[in-house]
Amino acid sequence: MQEHKKLPPTILFIFGGSGDLTNRKLVPALYNLYLDNYLPEQFIIIGVGRTSFGSDEEYRNKLRQGVQEFSRRKDELEQKWKDFASLITYHELDLSDDATYQKIISWIAEKSASWQTKPTIIFYLAVAPQLAPGIARKLSAQKICEDPSCTRIVFEKPFGHDLASARELNQLLSGIFAEDQIFRIDHYLGKETVQNILAFRFANALYEPIWNNNYIDHIQITAAETVGVEDRGSYYEQAGALRDMVQNHVLQLLCMIAMEPPTSFEANEIRNKKVDVLHALRKIDTEEVHAHAVRGQYSEGWIKAKKVQGYRQEKNVSPKSPAETFVAVKFFVDNWRWRNVPFYVRTGKYLHEKATLITIQFKSAPGYAFPKEAAETWRPNRLTISIQPEMDIRIRFQAKRPGPDMILNPVDMIFSYAEAYDGKEPEAYETLLEDVISGNQTLFMRADQVEAAWKVITPILEAWQNRLPVDFPNYAPDSWGPEDAEALIARDGHHWVTLPSKIKE
Ligand code: BG6
Repeated sequence: MQEHKKLPPTILFIFGGSGDLTNRKLVPALYNLYLDNYLPEQFIIIGVGRTSFGSDEEYRNKLRQGVQEFSRRKDELEQKWKDFASLITYHELDLSDDATYQKIISWIAEKSASWQTKPTIIFYLAVAPQLAPGIARKLSAQKICEDPSCTRIVFEKPFGHDLASARELNQLLSGIFAEDQIFRIDHYLGKETVQNILAFRFANALYEPIWNNNYIDHIQITAAETVGVEDRGSYYEQAGALRDMVQNHVLQLLCMIAMEPPTSFEANEIRNKKVDVLHALRKIDTEEVHAHAVRGQYSEGWIKAKKVQGYRQEKNVSPKSPAETFVAVKFFVDNWRWRNVPFYVRTGKYLHEKATLITIQFKSAPGYAFPKEAAETWRPNRLTISIQPEMDIRIRFQAKRPGPDMILNPVDMIFSYAEAYDGKEPEAYETLLEDVISGNQTLFMRADQVEAAWKVITPILEAWQNRLPVDFPNYAPDSWGPEDAEALIARDGHHWVTLPSKIKE
């Protein structure tokens, strides 16, 4: 068995213990941490929810099915599931009731006595976001989180609905908890390939000298999904792709690419450097939004010979809904390094391929000595960081085609995770849960980061709210989104780059 750093005795409360997130993500991740010996020696999980289960056993069986269905290591259920499951109990309780918190206090006291230590207590709020403030108030009123050194609270997105509500929530929380007790999840930051951006940029001397507007022409970030809104219509009606993906995941990717080198890997140092990028993003004037941002909504259509309904026909969606299921935006980071380098980002549902991809497009070589016919397929260098589902980094450069003639064409040099590391990458939630247990906030959103990100998208939100879309639905499922998104980038003489496997130029 692998030896890892020793973690303190911990009680993990999952509020929303009977919900989807617990089933799909949290428990499969915790089980994998258990298999790899990453959990503390003294560790229990207490699920709290409103659903009733006949017994802990019944609850554990439901979680087992979740692991069976959603875990990357479903084959490893036989060996250790039983031992792991014995750490889990479930309580059907109302989180708005004071009595619930009294019980929580007594369980903590019991465990502290039997472990003979003061454990770390984590409250994971896997509940609807509107319940979070009430729960925070109850925890405060019952004085459960008084000791910041050993109590933590984990929030899922969305963190606020706009700048004002995010500020309000942050104010409420800062009155109750210390910032280093609050773990705001952005699950993209837990992805291996996203974390690797830091290693790639800051552990290699090769790229830093060219990582700026002298050498980089533009940057693209694509987060394309092949799924529709599924059964999340009522949430999505309030959110839309700009709030759901750009405010958090996409802007965080942009920050990782654009941030200055940190002086240490201390959580606040990394977060300071990232928030600097958000502050440097050029404010888009509300009147100018149409020139910088494109929205789309999928129509009915076909995906791999299967008929799918349009967004407006989805469950819990208004037949006249203005909610966008696609967004493309052109940003600028107004600092010395990035002056006038466009950052094009796009994200959408029901797109042609699932692909999260970052493309760094370098400028052309300054002079060109080769004869014209040598280089008909000549292209400037390009670096592509494929976050998912492919996990690789590729550098495109020119090579001489073998043969007597001097003919050049672009080739890719590829680093593939799967080939280099046997495909054993942890899921984002594994990394993030381990960080919560060990108290490392590097990959979590700080209050000011969340607010700065809301600030960036506020003009777009406002412009779109004030001017309802007239052309929705405007893209077909299985496409790359509305034509305007192509035009947004084509106007500058570029085109969107798709999955590396499709790069044929
Ligand atoms: C979530 C969004 O945060 O991220 C979803 O709410 C989206 O709408 C999901 O589907 C995408 O995550 P991933 O890890 O599948 O890219």
